Amino acid sequence: MAVERTLSIIKPDATKRNLTGKIIAKFEEAGLRVVASKRIHLTPAQAGKFYEVHKDRPFFGELTEFMASEPVVVQVLEGEGAIAKNREVMGATNPADAAPGTIRAEFAESVGENSVHGSDAPETAKEEIAFFFSGLELVG
Ligand code: CMP
Repeated sequence: MAVERTLSIIKPDATKRNLTGKIIAKFEEAGLRVVASKRIHLTPAQAGKFYEVHKDRPFFGELTEFMASEPVVVQVLEGEGAIAKNREVMGATNPADAAPGTIRAEFAESVGENSVHGSDAPETAKEEIAFFFSGLELVG
């Protein structure tokens, strides 16, 4: 399987509850390596730009307001099959459907406040990484 990179966001509900370390441990235990990381506080406009693909969804306003409500930790995770592996470790979008042991099953509060985001495909991973990081910030 090819080595891939994927974008991860630890969301405001998790940073607020001081869960950053526990979540990163789940990634590392699954064999994913953090090759870039920063803690930032998005504006609603920046959150809206990142989630532009969802702009016509009824939850768009709620989503962008939430993502700008507290700091987030944005990271690039690297490993074999990293995109699918990250999604496996995160669990289903709705924590009610997430498999036991996944981040969302253990930590997420609701479908909106679901602790983590992860890229869903190679093309979006590339775009999402470039949204937050320059090449110089990807340090291996
Ligand atoms: P994420 O993987 O970050 O991608 C889009 C986000 O929209 C998703 O996680 C959820 O947090 C959010 N989302 C999806 N469905 C709903 C919903 N019904 N209500 C509120 N937020 C939602």
